[in-house]
Amino acid sequence: MNFLPLIEAKRDGRALTADQLQEVIAAFVAGQIPDYQMAAFLMAVFFRGLNGGETRALTLAMRDSGQVLQFPKNDPRPVVDKHSTGGVGDKVSLPLAPLLACLGFRVPMISGRGLGITGGTLDKLESIPGLTTQLGPERLVEQTQRIGVAMGGQTANMIPADKLLYALRDVTGTVPSIPLITASILSKKLAEGLDALVMDVKFGPAAFMPTRDAARELAWSIVSLAVECGVMTRALLVDMSTPHGHAAGNWLEVKEAVQCLEGCGPTDLQTLVIECAASLLVQTDKSPSLVAARLTALDCLASGAPRRKWDELIAAQGADLEAFHAKLQLDHTAPVVQECVAAEEGFIRTCDARIIGEIVRDLGGGRMTKASVIQPDVGIDRLAKPGDAVRRGTVLGRIHASNGAQAELAVARLQSAFSITPTPPVAAPLIVDTL
Ligand code: URA
Repeated sequence: MNFLPLIEAKRDGRALTADQLQEVIAAFVAGQIPDYQMAAFLMAVFFRGLNGGETRALTLAMRDSGQVLQFPKNDPRPVVDKHSTGGVGDKVSLPLAPLLACLGFRVPMISGRGLGITGGTLDKLESIPGLTTQLGPERLVEQTQRIGVAMGGQTANMIPADKLLYALRDVTGTVPSIPLITASILSKKLAEGLDALVMDVKFGPAAFMPTRDAARELAWSIVSLAVECGVMTRALLVDMSTPHGHAAGNWLEVKEAVQCLEGCGPTDLQTLVIECAASLLVQTDKSPSLVAARLTALDCLASGAPRRKWDELIAAQGADLEAFHAKLQLDHTAPVVQECVAAEEGFIRTCDARIIGEIVRDLGGGRMTKASVIQPDVGIDRLAKPGDAVRRGTVLGRIHASNGAQAELAVARLQSAFSITPTPPVAAPLIVDTL
């Protein structure tokens, strides 16, 4: 196809037709459009936007670039999922997926890799010895039917358009665009054949939407299109100024997710997990109210069943359980660990999630180019939280690095992520609104 006139049309702010967008996606997936032209197109979309009709057409073209999952209709378990727009230390999907399976849902979760400074569920899962996220449509459906949950990624025959565009957007500065995020997320979610979806839409310095108003606009774009396409969808607007939990980095986040499943995880993580589960229980009429649904989800988590389901899930995807449990016992798996300590006494006022995300990415936990290879074991743990009282020498966080030079640099940058005040700060709410 001759793509140039379409790039020029978008550059000049003209709308494209559904047929044109379908043709673009089909040609790109077939390898007929070079990355440099698609990168130019994405940048034109970033600046000019897409109207509602174009966003819908792009989403459906991306969904239909591969197979759409088909689940047996005579199964009483609703097919549901949750997706986050991306954050730092955001590991909610890991404990949530097995919890949902134990609550009587089917969860065919298709996730993404890290984007920019935000982490990705696939990269986290792949830090587990032996585990594969390349499941393919038949295996995703079979495993979801059999054990209630599967966690995979886009493949050559399932949303290949998002697999290719996602990787390109990551390294061309074209992620924070409402229509592109909407199409990326909903192409995956609509390909899952869902009954209900809960969205975790983040805002703040470490999210793709800097403000609450921008996050609301993104949430509205996703919710309205998903509902139009027949998926009952709700969105939570979540503050992303501070990293979630106490750990950021692929393996370190898996460890923290397991702690959550064992009932000893961080409060903010558990709150988000329970809130997403409760929302889906209400959305699918499995619970009469959010209050009742939260109790149901909390009871289920406390029963230990989701922790056992987690092992069943990762074993089904090839994980070596013995090696996984042995790795969990280790204090650290990166070659070098170095503490960053407070230089003064007081209370943590802020811990800047953007700086934390940049440190983790630069340690090798994220990507700078499409060819970057992830270092699964690097990152930061024992992160202090806003409101924590500290003295001189209190640990603010621990750097896990590949070598001493990187660790030294990261410790200095970690210091700059914290501000300390003499009086306790006012606590900011985590979930600020729902749609
Ligand atoms: N998550 C996705 O799946 N896609 C985006 O574009 C951003 C976050």
